[in-house]
Amino acid sequence: MSCCAHCEDAGDLFNREKAQNELRKYRTSGPPNKSTRLLIDALKTLDLQGRTLLDIGGGVGMIPLELLGAGVSASTLVEASPAYLDVAEQEARRRGFENRTAYEYGDFVERAPDLPEADIVTLDRVFCCYPHLEELVEASTSKTARWYGVTYPKERWYNQVIGGLAGVYCWVRDMDFRMYIHTGVEEVIRANGFVPFYQVNTILWRVELYEREDGAADDAG
Ligand SMILES: C[S@@+](CC[C@H](N)C(=O)[O-])C[C@H]1O[C@@H](n2cnc3c(N)ncnc32)[C@H](O)[C@@H]1O
Repeated sequence: MSCCAHCEDAGDLFNREKAQNELRKYRTSGPPNKSTRLLIDALKTLDLQGRTLLDIGGGVGMIPLELLGAGVSASTLVEASPAYLDVAEQEARRRGFENRTAYEYGDFVERAPDLPEADIVTLDRVFCCYPHLEELVEASTSKTARWYGVTYPKERWYNQVIGGLAGVYCWVRDMDFRMYIHTGVEEVIRANGFVPFYQVNTILWRVELYEREDGAADDAG
């Protein structure tokens, strides 16, 4: 397994211990983050039967697991952290989804040309891990046939403070990983040909669903 610089940084922070803790919480009481639960609930209102899913930076695979159980026919999870990818794959196998799931290692922006398009593409808490928002949005929307679901930190002073503290944490532990509070996320997604149809806030996060402008809107909801 070759390793890009971004994956090396992601692997340091998103390590096996964190992945196993997250999986334990998920098994006990479902997705631990409210923003993830809101995104999944919103996705479940769509006509998911037979749709395909690409989950970028999918962590332990909560979105694929939930949507495969709700009608999605097949999913691909792309992860920069080998530990998260491994834990996600084992959990999908344990639940009997091995024939409907694929797992790809790497920085999605680098891997995108080799990856298939999907009806639904999700990035749950991933923009804040990546320095180049425009590149990530362009690469991921180019793989989206229909619906694009994202969560990301709101542009608020307190998230800038949290991002700064996260940077100090990584610096003290000699990790190159940083947290990014991007501005103008909606504008960047719109500029790539998508229109929002679901937008909610938690205290820290923005949760949004978009549809490709030339998509058939009457299937949604
Ligand atoms: C905060 S975690 C969120 C995980 C999961 N989506 C969730 O919400 O539970 C961010 C994840 O994105 C992954 N990631 C960050 N940048 C990535 C990239 N460019 N390509 C693939 N994965 C990436 C990290 O390895 C990490 O597992």
